[in-house]
Amino acid sequence: MATSDVDLESEQYEKHREAGEILSQVRAETVERVEVGESHLEVAEFAEDRIRELGGQPAFPVNISIDEEAAHATPSIGDESTFGEEMINLDIGVSVDGWLADTAITVDLSGNPELANAPAEALDTALEMIEPGVQTGEIGGAIEEVIDGYGYNPVVNLTGHGLGHWEQHTEPTIPNRAVSQGTTLEVGDVVAIEPFATDGSGKVSEGGDEEIFALEREGSVRNRQARQVLDQITEEFRTLPFATRWLDSSRAKMALRRLKSQDIVHGYPVLKEDAGCLVSQKEHTIIVTPEGCEVTTD
Ligand code: CO
Repeated sequence: MATSDVDLESEQYEKHREAGEILSQVRAETVERVEVGESHLEVAEFAEDRIRELGGQPAFPVNISIDEEAAHATPSIGDESTFGEEMINLDIGVSVDGWLADTAITVDLSGNPELANAPAEALDTALEMIEPGVQTGEIGGAIEEVIDGYGYNPVVNLTGHGLGHWEQHTEPTIPNRAVSQGTTLEVGDVVAIEPFATDGSGKVSEGGDEEIFALEREGSVRNRQARQVLDQITEEFRTLPFATRWLDSSRAKMALRRLKSQDIVHGYPVLKEDAGCLVSQKEHTIIVTPEGCEVTTD
């Protein structure tokens, strides 16, 4: 899109900013609550409720990923897990009428502050580079260099991403390592940049657990419970990810199994570091401006 076509004061960008402001506040309040012995479910629900109180909607279930988990973990219905002396990644998103903001931070209770600092410094470095015309591969290279400098590996198969209307992951992809085939950022692009660092192999794979789902395609189901769940999904969450615990149905799990078997919804399995090592993360959402970028989740 040519620069002249983009009005950064238009309603869509104002809603991105509003989502970012809500998210910054909720992130700060949520981090305060992460302590040894506190409940995962209470922390997730606190954050999600605060987002609603402040006028947004959660763009996806609050991710609470522990130690070797990199992403996509969220409490189950009645979850009794509590925080221990662990590395905790909180990933939170806000939607204002489908316009999104996405942020993540590591709270280190494991005694590995440098591992938590590495992606934070990598993100700062990336943000300073952003301007119209910058190559995504160059951003990835800078992220890799900073994390490398700490003696850790970036997680190379997780990336930053564009944020579309009601779409949590769109083009462009922002790699966490140097790549030759990238794309160029343009004025008006709304992008989440999210470096991950690990003391392990630098790759993650899908684990067995799934608590987060999203609509894959339109469809119809005969089963009454599945139909009721599908109605809630299409009305409330649309194409954004949701948690099993957000569903009103008392047969939510059964309904989701049916919807999955028909490829109407898909799951997001928990992503775990391949060597079982710790993973840290930091993420901000930005709008590319003529001069550089505006961080909406600062
Ligand atoms: Co993200």
